[in-house]
Amino acid sequence: MTKKTDYPAIIEEVFEKVNQGENLGDVAHYIPELAKVNPENFGVYLLPLEEKGHGIGNWQEKFSIQSIAKVLSLSLAYKMIGDDIWERVGVEPSGNPFNSLVQLETDNGIPRNPLINAGAMVICDLLISHLPNPEEDFLAFVRNICSSQEINYSLEIARSEKSVGYRNVALCNFIKSFGNIKNRPEEVLDFYFKMCSLKMNCQQLARTFMFLADDNFRGINQERILSISQAKRINAIMQTCGFYDESGEFSFKVGLPGKSGVGGGILALHPDKYCIAVWSPRLNEKGNSYRGMKFLELFTSSTESSIF
Ligand code: DON
Repeated sequence: MTKKTDYPAIIEEVFEKVNQGENLGDVAHYIPELAKVNPENFGVYLLPLEEKGHGIGNWQEKFSIQSIAKVLSLSLAYKMIGDDIWERVGVEPSGNPFNSLVQLETDNGIPRNPLINAGAMVICDLLISHLPNPEEDFLAFVRNICSSQEINYSLEIARSEKSVGYRNVALCNFIKSFGNIKNRPEEVLDFYFKMCSLKMNCQQLARTFMFLADDNFRGINQERILSISQAKRINAIMQTCGFYDESGEFSFKVGLPGKSGVGGGILALHPDKYCIAVWSPRLNEKGNSYRGMKFLELFTSSTESSIF
């Protein structure tokens, strides 16, 4: 029997098992550029704090991280602005789909949390108000924490989403009508679509999130990214809101803070232990990677490494 701390062996075993099982769901057709991705891609990269990383399958292929980027924009806004951001966005799970409009009416334009589309737009608006060059500055932040200058936006994907982004346009204008978007909606949406279009492979994604798993993490200039308390709070939001109306299910089955994207990526982390990135483009009906969820459930069960 494989030892529960032998992460590479468990990654191989679980990957084989999930790869041989069903691959249900479909790629995200509502963004035309994402519909072109091969739905059979499947990659994993595990990066422990103390050991070297381990990848399997298509872990070197870049994909659109989509909503996973919302954690990064939130982190930058929290770093720059501090607790004032919570006056503009809540920290409660919404229990609704990621692109829902319904709660904004009764909540007077204050999104329930920063990981649903509405909340991420408010964070983009804050960044536009505080950064001289939001797109360049955000990219520089991500490159710094990933320690890679080759991370970039995909202009094709951003353009593709913008061409059909009617719901997001509605959301942004609706929030603006309550006064919780300060800049021009067009500008906020352009930044939002760019942010979501970031491309990374599984290894880069796992590396990018190390600042939330490792209390001793430092950026390129040896600077701390967030305080320990701020990092803990971001992890708490991922735990309760990272999978929208499937956040309870992810917590129940996997037991780690994490974030999904409609590109089929999932990033999950165990504070003080590891970051893990999984990519498989077929999504379940909640918009979360079907195989990604399965893989992580089996991985945390085999390694007994849920946070609970
Ligand atoms: O706004 C959207 O619909 C996409 N750019 C992001 C949605 C997303 O990734 C939801 N995650 N599972």
